[in-house]
Amino acid sequence: MSVIQVQGLRSLKGEIKIQGSKNAVLPMMAAAVLHKGTTVIHNVPRIQDVFCMLGILEHIGCICCFDGHSLTIDARDLTQAEIPEEYIKSMRSSIMLSGPLLGRTGNAVTSFPGGCSIGERPIDLHLSAFRKLGAIIEEKGDKLMVSANRLMGNHIYFPFPSVGATENALMAAVYAQGITVIHGAAKEPEIITLCEFLNNMGAGIHGTGTSVLIVKGVRELCDSEFTVAGDRIVAGTYLMAVMAAEGEIVIQGIQPGHLASAISLADRMGAELKRYESCLEVSMSGRPDCVDVITEPYPGFPTDLQSQLMAVMASAKGTGRIKETIFEGRFGTAKELHKLGADIIIEGKRADIHGLYPLKGNRVTATDLRGGAALVVAGLACEGVTEIHECHHIERGYEDICRDLSSLGAAIRGME
Ligand code: UD1
Repeated sequence: MSVIQVQGLRSLKGEIKIQGSKNAVLPMMAAAVLHKGTTVIHNVPRIQDVFCMLGILEHIGCICCFDGHSLTIDARDLTQAEIPEEYIKSMRSSIMLSGPLLGRTGNAVTSFPGGCSIGERPIDLHLSAFRKLGAIIEEKGDKLMVSANRLMGNHIYFPFPSVGATENALMAAVYAQGITVIHGAAKEPEIITLCEFLNNMGAGIHGTGTSVLIVKGVRELCDSEFTVAGDRIVAGTYLMAVMAAEGEIVIQGIQPGHLASAISLADRMGAELKRYESCLEVSMSGRPDCVDVITEPYPGFPTDLQSQLMAVMASAKGTGRIKETIFEGRFGTAKELHKLGADIIIEGKRADIHGLYPLKGNRVTATDLRGGAALVVAGLACEGVTEIHECHHIERGYEDICRDLSSLGAAIRGME
C-alpha cells in the first residue's frame, strides 16, 4: 500500500482493539538474543519494523517463527555479531541489538545510524554506557565495533533520559559481572515492559519504573513467554482521529494510565473521556479547542503524538502553540498540512497554529511514520479527498490504519 485516500468530514463511531506496542516489542526481540534458548512473545504487531527486526535476527542466526501475533525466537546458535549497514539504515532501532550482542558474545559490529527525517538522533549515550561497562569502541570505515572480554557492572549516568540508550544499557548489563546502576534512566512504559520481560527471562533488575535502575548481573537466562501491551501511540493516534473527525469511539486493549498526558490534553480541548482498566471511551462533538503543549519525556506529552496533535489543532477552534523539545526535525509534517490549507507558522522549536475548519483535501506526502499518520488524521477533517503518498512510512508502525479507521466509519482506502 503506497497511497491512502481519505474522504473527509465523516464522524467516527465504534470500537477498536489496539495492536501490540511497536516500541515495546522491538527491544524485546533484540533482548531475546541474550538467551541461548527460546523466547515466545505474544500480541506482536504485524508491522514492517517487526518484519525488519525479524530479518536481522535471522541474519545473525536466530530461528524465528511468526505465527499470527505470536513470535518464537530460538537464539541458541548465533552465527554473526555483525548487523549489515542496510538494516541499520532501513530501521534505526536495529541499533538496539548492539547491547544484547555485546552482552551475549562480547562483540557487536554495527554502523552509525545517522540522522533521519525527524532529527539528528546521535547514539553517544548508548556508546558511553557500553564504555562504562568496560567495552572498547572502535570505528573502522563505516563500521562501529564494540567489544569486551567481560563486561563489569558500574554506575552509568545519563544526562538526558534517552529511551534507546536506557534499553541498550539494560540489555548489555544483564550478564555484566556485579552490579550496574543506571542513573537518569528513561521511565517510559516500554522501559518498564523491557525490565519485566528481562526479569521474566531470569535477569535481576530492580527499581523498575524509576529513574535509577539497578541490574544485578546473572550468568544465564531461561526460556520464557511474555505478552506485549497495546500500543499507546497507536491508541493516541485514534484518540486524535476522533478529535479531528468528531464522534464517539471506544479504544480497547490499552492501559489508559499510559496515555494520561494525551487524555488530559483531549479533555482540555473539549472531548469527553471515560477511563476504564483496559479501555478508553472518547466522545467529541463540535470542533476541539486549540491549546498550548510541550513535548517531554514520559509522563509528559509524547513527541510521537505531536504530529497527530498538530493535525487536530490545524482543524480546531482558536490558536494554539506546540513546543517540540525532543526531536528538532519533527515539524516536517507542517509543510504537508499547509497543502491542506492549514495555518501553521514554525519558528525553531515552536509551532503556532491557527485552527481552520474544514481543511481542504489535496495530495500530500508522508515523510515519517507518525507524520504520515498525522496526514491521515488531517484528512478526516478535510472537505473532499486527501491523497497521502509514500505510505510505507505508516506501515512501519501501523498494522492497517485503513482497516482500523474504516471499522470506525471513516471513508478510507489504501492503494498500491
Ligand atoms: C524512542 C522511540 C521513539 C520516540 C523516542 C522518544 C523506539 C523504537 N523509539 O526513540 O519512537 O520518539 O524514544 O520518546 O522506542 N539522544 C542523544 N544521544 C543518544 C540518544 C538520544 O542525544 O545517544 C537524544 C535524541 O537525539 C533525542 C532525545 O535524546 O533528542 C531522545 O531520544 P531517545 O529517547 O533516545 O529516542 P529513541 O530511543 O531514539
